[in-house]
Amino acid sequence: MNNDILKVLYSKEEIEEACQRLGKEISKTYAGKTPVVVGVLKGAIFFMTDIVRAVDAYVQIDFIDVSSYHGATESSGTVELMQDINTDIKGRDVLIVEDIVDTGRTLKFLQDTFADRGANSIKVCTLLDKPAGREVHAESDFIGFKVPNEFVVGYGLDYDEKYRNLPYIGVLKPEIYTNK
Ligand code: PRP
Ligand code: MN
Ligand code: MG
Repeated sequence: MNNDILKVLYSKEEIEEACQRLGKEISKTYAGKTPVVVGVLKGAIFFMTDIVRAVDAYVQIDFIDVSSYHGATESSGTVELMQDINTDIKGRDVLIVEDIVDTGRTLKFLQDTFADRGANSIKVCTLLDKPAGREVHAESDFIGFKVPNEFVVGYGLDYDEKYRNLPYIGVLKPEIYTNK
């Protein structure tokens, strides 16, 4: 699996550092509050577990499963809700935790959904932000890294549902896509 990687963009150590930095920012923002932190499956699984443990504030956690890439390198354009949260977020402060914001469609869908349900506030923490990929307006409040316009895998991010378990974030060798 590691042999399929062309280059490492962010090492395990760099990701850990980013989580600590973001954890401090989030702790300040939510001091005295108890936000509902919503991890977006499956991509945000590892980031979610690392970020909430870097936050010194009371939090509730929940998960939502949405999908639009279905393992491919390009978005299908439709965000499908696979499994919803079970917390009532009316009047609550919601923090969405994403692995990456690319076209912005997934995030926009989540922001609209939680706004419709009457959340008091909605903020977003994403490990990776790819501004060059944006097709709809959806921005984050806490950002780990701004990434170049390349398809990245690892630390939760998949290609064809694989590579999520890499401990770092990297770029695949081009032949991995073309040999499929
Ligand atoms: C990926 C990623 C984000 C979203 C970002 O999820 O984890 O949730 O796409 O892309 P966008 O800004 O273009 O919407 P995906 O649909 O691949 O599902 P997964 O998390 O289960 O891999
Ligand atoms: Mn995802
Ligand atoms: Mg995916």
